[in-house]
Formats: sequence, C-alpha cells, structure tokens
Amino acid sequence: MSKSFFIQTFGCQMNEHDSEIMAGMLIDKGYVPASDRKDANIVLFNTCSIRDNADKRFFGTLGQLKKKKMAEGENFTVCVTGCMMQQQHVIDTLKQKYPWVDVIIGTHNIHELPDLLDNLYKEKKKQLSVWPEGGDIVEGLPSKRLFKHKAYVNITFGCNNFCTYCIVPYTRGRERSRRPEDIIKEICCLAQDGVKEVMLLGQNVNSYRGEGADKVWDFSDLIRAVNDIEGIERIRFMTSHPKDLSDKLIDCFRDCSKLCHYFHLPVQSGSSEVLKRMNRRYDRERYLELVRKLREVDPDMAISTDIIVGFPGETEEQFEDTLELCREVGYDSAFTFLYSIRKGTPAEKFDDQVPEAIKHERFNRLCDEINSTSAVKNAAYVGRVLDVLCDGPSKRNSRSLSGRTDTFKLVNFKGDPALAGEIVKVRITSSNTFSLEGELV
Ligand code: 5AD
Ligand code: SF4
Repeated sequence: MSKSFFIQTFGCQMNEHDSEIMAGMLIDKGYVPASDRKDANIVLFNTCSIRDNADKRFFGTLGQLKKKKMAEGENFTVCVTGCMMQQQHVIDTLKQKYPWVDVIIGTHNIHELPDLLDNLYKEKKKQLSVWPEGGDIVEGLPSKRLFKHKAYVNITFGCNNFCTYCIVPYTRGRERSRRPEDIIKEICCLAQDGVKEVMLLGQNVNSYRGEGADKVWDFSDLIRAVNDIEGIERIRFMTSHPKDLSDKLIDCFRDCSKLCHYFHLPVQSGSSEVLKRMNRRYDRERYLELVRKLREVDPDMAISTDIIVGFPGETEEQFEDTLELCREVGYDSAFTFLYSIRKGTPAEKFDDQVPEAIKHERFNRLCDEINSTSAVKNAAYVGRVLDVLCDGPSKRNSRSLSGRTDTFKLVNFKGDPALAGEIVKVRITSSNTFSLEGELV
C-alpha cells in the first residue's frame, strides 16, 4: 500500500524550495502527496529559526501530533528538518520532550530523506542525520513545484556575513555557489516544462561566484545568461545584501528585458551606528546612494526592505533615523520585525537589550509609516494597464483571480481560471494597502 505524506513549511523561500525538493524525491519513490495533514501517514515539518516565534510555533504544532503518534505507532511517521535541526539545543529538546519523533534531518542533507525513511521502516529504529557543514552541492534533485509557471532556483547556499543578530550563518553554513552550467541547464529544463518566471534564490544572491568552464561568473553574468533563455519571461531574485550591490548588477536592469523592476533590499536600520553594531558593512548614506542609482535606471522601480526594530542599544533617536530613512526611500512594502535574541549570535551577549514595551511601541509607529507609504504607492497604479502573470484563483477569494505585476504588486481581477500561467493585460481600477484591484482588458 502506498504511503501518503504532508509537508508543513515554516520560514523563507529557501525552506519552501527545500520542501518542493523533498516532495519531489518522495513522489519519485512512490509516496503520494496528501492534501491535508490529517490524512497523511507521514508528516514532515520543515522548520525555521530566524526568530523566537518561529521556534515556538514549531514546538506548538509538533505537540499536536503526539496523540496521533501514540495511537498509531509505526503506522504514522513524524519527520523534522530545517534550520532548527542545526542547533544542538533543539536536538536535545526533541530527544527529551518529543522522543516519539521518527526522523530528524539537517539542512545540508535533505537528499537523504528517502533513504532515512527506508532505514526507519527496515530497521524499526529512529533516524537522526544532521551534517554540521554542507558538503558538495548535490545536483539533479527532483522538485514538485507549487506552481506550473513559476519556479525557485537555488544559486547559492549559506551565508558568510555574520550579521550580529542572525542565526543563518550557523544553520545554513558557509556560502557556496552552484556552477553556472548547472543553473542554466536547470532553467532551460524548467522553461521547456512551461515555467515563465524564475526566482533565483540565495541568502545573499549578489555575492554569487560560480566556477564556470571558462571563467568565474558573478551575479550579473548569471542574470544576462538567464535573460537569453527562450521561454523564460520574468527573472526575480531574493535576497540581496546592500554591501554587494554592484553597478554591474544595476546595469542589468537597463539591459535585460526580462529582469523584473522590483528590488528587495534589506536595510535593517536607518542608523549608521546601529548598522555598524549589526555588522552590516554599509552605512545610511551608502544605502541611500544605492536607492538613488536604482531609481535612476527606473523611477518606478519598486523597492521593498526588511527592518529590525529594537536591536540592542537602539535609542529613540536612532529609531527615528529609521523612520526618516523610510520616508526618504518611499518603500513599496517592508517586512518589519521585532528584534529577537538568537542563541549563539554575537548580539545575544549585548547587554543593552531594548525593553519589550519600547520595541512594540516603535514597531507600531514604523508599521503606520510603512503602510501609509504603501497605500500611496499603490494608489498611483490606478488607471494604468499592466502585464500581470496570473497565478490562478486568489487565496482569499476563490471567485477572483490573482497575479503579480513586474513590480511584484498583487492584483485581483475576475476571469477564467484557465488563465493561470498566462501573462494578461489588466486595467487597475482601485488600490488597497497591500494589493490592487483590476479588470481584464
Ligand atoms: N530578530 C529579528 N529579525 C531578524 N531577522 C534576522 N534575524 C533576526 C532577529 N534575530 C530578520 C532580518 C532579515 C529577515 C529575513 O529576518 O530583517 O533580513
Ligand atoms: Fe543573516 Fe546577514 Fe546572512 Fe542575511 S546577510 S542571512 S541577515 S547573516
């Protein structure tokens, strides 16, 4: 009898893509995807440890499976993977409080999942395999894409930046780039399979350095090559570090017609002093200069960011520098986060932690600022006719379709669900803070 599986993913696009790969491997082995967690014989959690609330949500959700595991024993399998598994204190907690978990896998060896399941069933023994560091990049893994017309493509793994608040360099290891030939081959296959939009993924994509047959490729070389692939119509990437944003990359926005005019450029703080303590290796002025250069290429370039509120030692004045920077840039959107202490990072030891009440108060002020700018930016789209890549029925309202503009604006409009995967013309009729409404032209 075939076994069904369900993967629940926490965290970023890297995790989402890892889940697509694990789903692809399981399907190749004859396992069947379940559409609901309740119906699956195998449940796999892909975890995130970027902030404390991600940790807490995982343990809460895992606890919900205990009853079923106790009742069904060997007929129900619980697996856990993702960034949390790269931390010894998490493994210790799992062993002590959740000893009924069957398989634990780290972030560097997800390709082992099918073998670990085989071992579990053959040996009737719990499986734990966590590699402390990434080995050679494993190529050629299958992937069960969420969308037929859009695909994630890893280009780098890991991070060498060691921002003082961040756990990622410890959970994802040192930065490694895939070979350009492997990336191009993968994207050509995706294009043949109907993919129109690729999202190039890495913790820090613009420090990409790929060993090609002829030379070492940088990120702009890679974008130019992807731009030449027939069938691909849109190129996006995530995430960039301002310290590595080169003029060569900015020139790609002039030269590469498929490169979307949307730039996610995490600033983290608008205060040069805070940026220094975060080890970000750029200052406020340099960041604003980059924004200016991007807007020189295209005044309508959409820009979004990540901001941390309440980093240790952040004063009211330094926080106001962040508010002021947001006003100056005019972000299309921003992900805002309360600073969260992460075990093992340098900032854990900083002794001037900001009190929770102050963090929350600043957070609310920042959200008000960001949301009002987003609403103004979106309102400027009303009346325009735009190309929208239709994703299919909207998540919020199944009688409506939704899709994204080149600038990554979410657009809702009425139409035939068969338009999923097509680039259609939509006239924008009204705007909200986080989305646009429109009608097919
Ligand atoms: N606390 C709060 N936010 C964090 N981020 C990373 N680490 C932390 C932390 N310890 C945020 C950063 C990063 C985004 C993915 O998560 O803004 O860009
Ligand atoms: Fe974390 Fe900084 Fe690396 Fe981003 S660049 S993953 S914030 S250490």
